[in-house]
Amino acid sequence: MTISFAEFVVQTKEELEKKLADAVSGLHCPEVLKESMLYSLQAGGKRIRPLLLFATMHAFRQDWREGIPVAASLEMIHTYSLIHDDLPCMDDDDLRRGKPTNHKVFGEAYATLAGDALLTYAFEVIGTMDISSDMKVALMSELAQAAGPEGMVAGQVADMEGTHRNITLEELENVHRNKTGKLLAFAAVAGAILGNATKEQVEQIREFAMYVGLAFQIQDDILDVEGSEILIGKPVGSDQENEKNTYVSLLSLEKAKEKLEETIHHGKSILEVLPINKAFLEEICVVVTERKQ
Ligand code: IPE
Ligand code: IPE
Ligand code: MG
Ligand code: MG
Ligand code: MG
Repeated sequence: MTISFAEFVVQTKEELEKKLADAVSGLHCPEVLKESMLYSLQAGGKRIRPLLLFATMHAFRQDWREGIPVAASLEMIHTYSLIHDDLPCMDDDDLRRGKPTNHKVFGEAYATLAGDALLTYAFEVIGTMDISSDMKVALMSELAQAAGPEGMVAGQVADMEGTHRNITLEELENVHRNKTGKLLAFAAVAGAILGNATKEQVEQIREFAMYVGLAFQIQDDILDVEGSEILIGKPVGSDQENEKNTYVSLLSLEKAKEKLEETIHHGKSILEVLPINKAFLEEICVVVTERKQ
């Protein structure tokens, strides 16, 4: 039975949301911690990373439902990174996904702890999956590398250190690759691992997804300038206010848009040589470059 991309987006999102709710509701932990975790998990994220994971499984002709726990755990780590990113000691933002940020509702201590809990619990969710131990180890190592000191956390540090001073485009690209690219690439890598891809195919998928991740962050920079606050659910103009280096500040809005097209084109060209069912992955490239939210 074939399914359209629009149906795929709705179905996968629904199942993912259910898994997130069930996984956290079932925890035996202080109620306030659960509330704080669920508040951010259910604040209306776009779920682009889970979608990329499921679409990659689909590309390798694997039942996407088997990837639900991994997608949930990825979304937990992504959500933790946003809760901490918004804290007063970091970007100090009051609005996220159109709602007050976690610390505005629960206070800084609980926001920090909800982030800690989501990060740790994510690994438990993969650890208790009914798949081979080899696959679990591969998924956990990939996730830890993407999120940890050589991945997203490194990107956050470099992002902070590059603030209020001029950096080169090359340095900025490096920040973006770590801050956003690697966690987004994990989605596709995990989908390929779950889809029993060969090692070589996993690396090709990783390269493709790194371009998608970079493109995603370039569009994030563009939307910070010309986006609608209602649609993006976070303040517009916050990068300029915080003197952040972005593709727009370094290149101009017009050139940033050209760079976005160029980047996604590179990604798509890698996809071309792979003997997989790539239609949904190509649709995701369109979503990433044309998104308004
Ligand atoms: C926001 O990510 C942070 C970046 C890496 C740009 P998303 O734009 O995917 O955030 P949600 O999950 O949809 O809120
Ligand atoms: C944060 O990047 C990405 C993370 C790794 C959390 P930004 O600081 O640019 O994300 P937004 O604009 O607040 O969503
Ligand atoms: Mg930030
Ligand atoms: Mg931020
Ligand atoms: Mg941003």
